[in-house]
Amino acid sequence: MKSMFLRVGVIGSGGRGRHLAGIVHRSGARARIVACCDLNADVLAQNRVEFGGDVVVTRSYTELLGVDLDAVIIATPDYLHEEQAVAALQHGLTVYLEKPMALTVPGCDRILAAAAKTRAKLYLGHNMRHMPFVRKMKALITRGAIGEVKACWVRHFVGHGGDFYFRDWHAERRYSTGLLLQKAAHDIDVIHWLCGGYTRHVAGMGALSLYGGLGQRLPAVKGPRAGVKGCTLDAWPPTSARGLNHRIDVEDLSSMMMRLDNGVQATYSQCHYTPDYWRSYTVIGTGGRMENFGNGEAGTVIRVWNKRSSGYRAEADRTYRVRPGDGGHGGADPRIMEEFIRYARYGGETTTSPLAARESVATGCRATESLRGGGATLSVPRVQGRIAAYFADGRG
Ligand SMILES: NC(=O)c1ccc[n+]([C@@H]2O[C@H](COP(=O)([O-])OP(=O)(O)OC[C@H]3O[C@@H](n4cnc5c(N)ncnc54)[C@H](O)[C@@H]3O)[C@@H](O)[C@H]2O)c1
Repeated sequence: MKSMFLRVGVIGSGGRGRHLAGIVHRSGARARIVACCDLNADVLAQNRVEFGGDVVVTRSYTELLGVDLDAVIIATPDYLHEEQAVAALQHGLTVYLEKPMALTVPGCDRILAAAAKTRAKLYLGHNMRHMPFVRKMKALITRGAIGEVKACWVRHFVGHGGDFYFRDWHAERRYSTGLLLQKAAHDIDVIHWLCGGYTRHVAGMGALSLYGGLGQRLPAVKGPRAGVKGCTLDAWPPTSARGLNHRIDVEDLSSMMMRLDNGVQATYSQCHYTPDYWRSYTVIGTGGRMENFGNGEAGTVIRVWNKRSSGYRAEADRTYRVRPGDGGHGGADPRIMEEFIRYARYGGETTTSPLAARESVATGCRATESLRGGGATLSVPRVQGRIAAYFADGRG
């Protein structure tokens, strides 16, 4: 570190990047945002107001990498992650990279190879591992609350799907691969974490079942459409959605089955037009099952059943109430940035893992391939050779 505080740059300092940068900047004397890069001039003007007149602002990420920095947050759209992460690592910077790590498995492996070669620190933004309800489930599993885990079933109700994923670059597979990667990367990572293994076989099925048929689209643009956000709860039913991206070739309804290397079987299903927006996790072990009810603002109830009954028994054997924290994603965002700053300054163990992030991309990519190729079961490639060894050595 070159000064008393960590000097942090942000690439993609509008949407997600602005939020994360704000958390870092407010973290006291330990870290400061000193440079911001974005294509949008309004975003850069906002950055100056928020982070001070002396913050360097630029439209060029290579110019930002030339600033005197210790670390960089990369929160640009997914199709830019690989190029920008490799370049930042080659500059020797500690990198916070948003999920999904990259659009492809070779893309992830190039990032891992760059980190291994330069020995620069790489941290992946899988903030769900810092969500209170996920951490509680992990702690319960670790202490044997349901015995040995055998199955995990995840249902993902993406109620804001039409607002967030079908209006801009997310809707085109050339920029996002598909939503079994873009959106599910979070949950695949959590499934791997809760179940203690990585997926080695996967099969997917899905369709563009609703949004593809809607008219009055946005006018065609040549490259990726910049992020379009905003959600109004009275925009209902989903068939009334207008102003979607001119091209939509990703699925809005999809499911995947996974077999992990430790024999655990998992399923994940995603629908982008449900009336509500939440995630439901069921984990079954040799001594019972657990399930979460609700998440987000209202908190989560986790129920654990360990005794048999002849039908559905609403009352569980144990019930845990988990309150969300402040600051975004149930408190996960302040926690993950806290861990990142600590890791950048002092190193040590981390809750998220570059190797695991790569495994979540590999699983999402192969599931998407299966889904688009008839639903066959496909194998998921492992990380190979010296890269695996480098990250297995306490860094993965
Ligand atoms: N971990 C989470 O909970 C979470 C939540 C939201 C988004 N994300 C991830 O964060 C990333 C960004 O998502 P977003 O919704 O903020 O996207 P976005 O489309 O809003 O883009 C983010 C910013 O990047 C800027 N940008 C685009 N191209 C650029 C370029 N070539 N150079 C510099 N800046 C550029 C945009 O102007 C915008 O301000 C994605 O990878 C997404 O998956 C993660």
